[in-house]
Amino acid sequence: MNNNDELKAAAEELNVKSLDTVTAIITRRSVRKYSGDGIGDQLLHTVLNAGFCAPSAHNRRPWHFIVIRNRDKLIELSEAYMYSKMLKSADCCIAVCADAEVQPTHDFLIADCSAAIENMLLCAHSLGIGGVWIGVVKNTEWYDFIKNSLSLPASIVPAGLISLGVPVRSADARDRFETGKVHYEQFGSQFQDRFA
Ligand SMILES: Cc1cc2nc3c(=O)[nH]c(=O)nc-3n(C[C@H](O)[C@H](O)[C@H](O)COP(=O)(O)O)c2cc1C
Repeated sequence: MNNNDELKAAAEELNVKSLDTVTAIITRRSVRKYSGDGIGDQLLHTVLNAGFCAPSAHNRRPWHFIVIRNRDKLIELSEAYMYSKMLKSADCCIAVCADAEVQPTHDFLIADCSAAIENMLLCAHSLGIGGVWIGVVKNTEWYDFIKNSLSLPASIVPAGLISLGVPVRSADARDRFETGKVHYEQFGSQFQDRFA
């Protein structure tokens, strides 16, 4: 079975009506409250696959995805950082870790892993799963905590965590188009938005 066949089979098995890409992008919101219901393994596989499909500089794909479902571990992570409390009730966490040996250019390393995170968040939302990006800043207590907690080797660093669960309710989509931040040909020259 090739990758396409596997994905097709997965989509059929999911039995979930997925959103089209543009709808998923413009309706995605961070979800921090979860019902407690579980996400099926097939759904999780599809979300992980979305991560693997992200673009990366020189196609190096310098990422590792650590799936955390152990409740004690989720609670431990939720208590270690003031902005990760939602993990306590999440069905799972995906720790996106970056391999600095595979991609030594730090800016590319973080950009690649960020692309993977956003792909997974959009895929999750598209399939009815709620998620939120939990940031990790290099050389902070939170960063060190994750390194130790997940037994990361020296060259593998945490880039970001994703908290996932079945949402309690859907958040409203917001119009965030900022005309003043779109420039015409050069910075400072107002873009004429004919669709605003
Ligand atoms: C790099 C990054 C780090 C973030 N870190 C956190 C976090 O630690 N905890 C959290 O609850 N949300 C975090 N968020 C989510 C943002 O708070 C959220 O995306 C923002 O408020 C916009 O809301 P929306 O996602 O509903 O559109 C992070 C988002 C990004 C892109």
